[in-house]
Amino acid sequence: MKNIVVIGVGYVGLPMAACFADFGNLVTCVDINGPRIEGLKAGVMPIFEPGLEEITRRNAHAGRLRFTTSYPDALNDPAAPADMVFICVGTPSGVDGEADLRYVRAAAESIAEIADHPIIIINKSTVPVGTGDWVADIVRGKQPKPIPFAVVSNPEFLREGQAVTDFINPDRVVLGSLDASAAQQVAQLYLPLRAPIVVTDLRTAEMIKYASNAFLATKISFINEIANICEALGADVKEVAVGMGYDKRIGRAFLDAGLGYGGSCFPKDVKALAHMANVQGRHPQLLESVMQINSDQRKSIVRKVRALIGDAGKPQPLAGQTVGILGLAFKANTDDTRESQPVEIAQMLEADGALVKAYDPVAMESAGKVLKDVKMCEDAYETAAGCDALILATEWNEFKNLDFRRIKNSMNTPVMVDGRNMYDPEVMRRHGFVYRGVGRGYADA
Ligand code: NAD
Ligand code: UGA
Repeated sequence: MKNIVVIGVGYVGLPMAACFADFGNLVTCVDINGPRIEGLKAGVMPIFEPGLEEITRRNAHAGRLRFTTSYPDALNDPAAPADMVFICVGTPSGVDGEADLRYVRAAAESIAEIADHPIIIINKSTVPVGTGDWVADIVRGKQPKPIPFAVVSNPEFLREGQAVTDFINPDRVVLGSLDASAAQQVAQLYLPLRAPIVVTDLRTAEMIKYASNAFLATKISFINEIANICEALGADVKEVAVGMGYDKRIGRAFLDAGLGYGGSCFPKDVKALAHMANVQGRHPQLLESVMQINSDQRKSIVRKVRALIGDAGKPQPLAGQTVGILGLAFKANTDDTRESQPVEIAQMLEADGALVKAYDPVAMESAGKVLKDVKMCEDAYETAAGCDALILATEWNEFKNLDFRRIKNSMNTPVMVDGRNMYDPEVMRRHGFVYRGVGRGYADA
């Protein structure tokens, strides 16, 4: 049992804190967002994440999971001084694509100024190679008097929408440190998971995280490029992915063609890795192409809508047309709309003059903050009613078995653009839709 402090209760910090508490540790979460902490104390979840509420409540009730805005209370509780502190704050994109480290800096400074005893500082945030050394310099520089500490890099590989399951079933745990004893102590925390543990140096651990995300993003852009070629040559990318995926060297995962990758991770991390390479005078050609293909993929969905219902002669080709969007989150099972493809598609449609309607089971509140003119609807049926085209944008289960006769009959023109290849093209055409998927043959071109 360890006394653990988690800085930042977001999509990573909260699931991790709840899971470590569930393994019997005492976990104290500290966040500068007061309402978020007050909410958690009252049992209100700040994010939508399946399974998280139950494990959070249970461990909070058992007294193993606590929430505070006070660093001193979190780090220096006389009854339970922190052994380890995990930094889980955001690292968004800066102006040139580099990771913005201001929150990491603030967290490191607070630890240095407040911790009154030796502690292990663990970077869980995704941070550029070299940040571990930089954090150590900050802590040394800000400590009122020298107190021993160690820095460990422990990147996280969980996915939103399945954070709890991913956290407790990791494919591997990566630990990087120059201090072998500190790395060993952090490794102990993960022993209940029985996962392979890779122990390496700080910089290598930081690079493993970026390389992993960039590789997965590359797989997605690769299959989207194949999808585009499939449209020109009359092949079906879904079956191509299945056929490729049986090869163990390739694997089926992350070969779903669609809207390209979105979210708070792949877009910023591929950009940040390319930035790191450029700063060092290396030309990251593959990463540049991955990003370009990803951006084109969103545009190609809008092009399909324009081709089906637009007036190419007009400066705003979709003027007077109504387009419905099913799903606003960047993937299913999350309310996160950071770098969300459906949100960007809605903005492109509006720029083309369309009136946009949308529905998402949990992401309308956050999407609504940027999509002020989009009409948010009660469900898929209200969204489709009166539309000239409908786009399936997030693969929520509840969109899988809709009453398509009802949808079709309520639309102005029965045009369906399936950005996730969720539906069977033949079935949709039998329902009377003009249907376009992504890379499912000549018809999708
Ligand atoms: P988030 O924005 O959801 O949460 C960050 C939290 O940190 C917020 O609650 C914020 O108020 C808090 N915070 C900011 N500065 C603080 C400070 N000085 N002291 C205390 N709290 C502070 O972020 P996230 O999505 O959880 O991502 C966190 C990090 O983990 C990022 O580096 C991200 O790249 C990485 N990561 C994210 C995921 C994911 O699925 N979201 C997965 C793996 C890794
Ligand atoms: C991703 C990684 O999968 C995690 O391992 C990593 O920890 C996390 O980023 C991070 O570093 O923050 P996440 O962004 O939550 O997790 O979601 P993914 O399931 O990876 O999906 C990312 C995007 O790619 C989504 O928009 C999804 O729709 C899209 N995607 C995914 C595809 O278009 N095709 C696929 O085959 C898979």
